[in-house]
Amino acid sequence: MQTFVKNLASMVGQEVEVKGWLYNKRSSGPIAFLELRDGSGWVQAVAAKSELDPVVWEEIEKSTQESSVVVTGKVAKHPKKATVFELQVINFKLLQLAHEYPIAHKEHGPDFLMENRHLWLRSKRQWAILRVRDAVITAIGEYLHKENFIKVDSPVFTPNACEGTTTLFPVPYFDLGTAYLSQSGQLYIEAAIASVGRCYDFGPVFRAEKSKTKRHLTEFWMMDAEAAFVEHEDNLKIQEGLVRYIIRYCLTNCQEELKILERNTEPLEKADKPFTRYTYDEAIKKLNELGSDIKYGEDLGNDDEGLLTKDSQVPVFIEKWPKSIKPFYMKRDSVNSDLVLNDDLIAIEGAGEIIGGSQREEDYELLLSRIKAEELNEEDYQWYLDLRKYGSVPHSGFGIGLERMVRWITGVEHIRECIPFPRTIGRLRP
Ligand code: 4AD
Repeated sequence: MQTFVKNLASMVGQEVEVKGWLYNKRSSGPIAFLELRDGSGWVQAVAAKSELDPVVWEEIEKSTQESSVVVTGKVAKHPKKATVFELQVINFKLLQLAHEYPIAHKEHGPDFLMENRHLWLRSKRQWAILRVRDAVITAIGEYLHKENFIKVDSPVFTPNACEGTTTLFPVPYFDLGTAYLSQSGQLYIEAAIASVGRCYDFGPVFRAEKSKTKRHLTEFWMMDAEAAFVEHEDNLKIQEGLVRYIIRYCLTNCQEELKILERNTEPLEKADKPFTRYTYDEAIKKLNELGSDIKYGEDLGNDDEGLLTKDSQVPVFIEKWPKSIKPFYMKRDSVNSDLVLNDDLIAIEGAGEIIGGSQREEDYELLLSRIKAEELNEEDYQWYLDLRKYGSVPHSGFGIGLERMVRWITGVEHIRECIPFPRTIGRLRP
């Protein structure tokens, strides 16, 4: 029966069968050290020529990096390291002798690695990132269910924009004209909260962003959450609770992965404290004091986000932005109607914006006037306006960019490593 490497610690002395791939091989005369990986972890298997059938030893000798193999062996404690276990090989079966593997155990340039992304995923580093990504997804689901949200999926083909018309990807859609790939499922889960109260979606979203930065993808995964009867203040509390939950979850469950990634976890540990808050107005003033030439009414760039958080141990909310630079659906601040009740959450360590959220305009006439003012096609938003006709309630929500969050937690520099198959302005393959 197949045994998983991650479970070997509890099987010392037993004979087990590990199915996987040969990651690396070193030979020293009649002894071969095989580094095996099976998806759940890595283990060293030690093969002694004198104890094996000559046919088996020959198979070991000819096996190449990334060959698929089945190894039977006895689980033993590493002679020197207390927490490390190894296999003493009893039998070795080569399933497929791998061709010469293009990714050798040496440094390769990023373009080469991206071209070979389908193979690069097998490296220790990519394995660790994939697992942290999975942990972030799990943490999000756990936290939201605890807070009474359920998952409701939103469509990818949509007739209208959610986040402005400039980043839409058009797709010909039979006789119905042009469909657009979703930029965010928000508008649809706003409909669903009138059924289930609180919900979230989690899926790929698309933005035709021409930005060639280390934090922009054209296809990324977003979790949109939406809650009925939640206003701006509580919206921020839910976001902070979620991010702190993700941090704790990853620190507890991804110790091995973060070690492989050489992530200094101290800043993450320290970030699990109440987050700082600035209004947009305060943020601009502070940035100007710090030397930025940003003007009131402009969006924050990467450098501004870095500057604003450089001395902060915790992520920073920037709330109440001018309505002129934010989408039509955001509710205006009753104290100053030029502002909206929204927030961007900026992570520390230069990770930048990870969340965008807001209270939504629930009044039919005000929402209609915003749709008209932005010259959006009213007919496309009729269904969305309907939500303000039939039992409209105060409600709020937010969207977290999965790869941005993974990038921060892992400390990986470029977002392209935070999604299995990245899509950027210059990359569609593999
Ligand atoms: O701030 P955004 O545009 O918000 C929305 O789309 C809302 N409709 C969400 C909501 O209220 N339900 O995007 C949310 C997050 C950003 O904070 C960022 O983390 C991520 O999505 N994001 C990107 N991630 C990678 N590549 C891009 N091009 C991204 N654009 C936004």
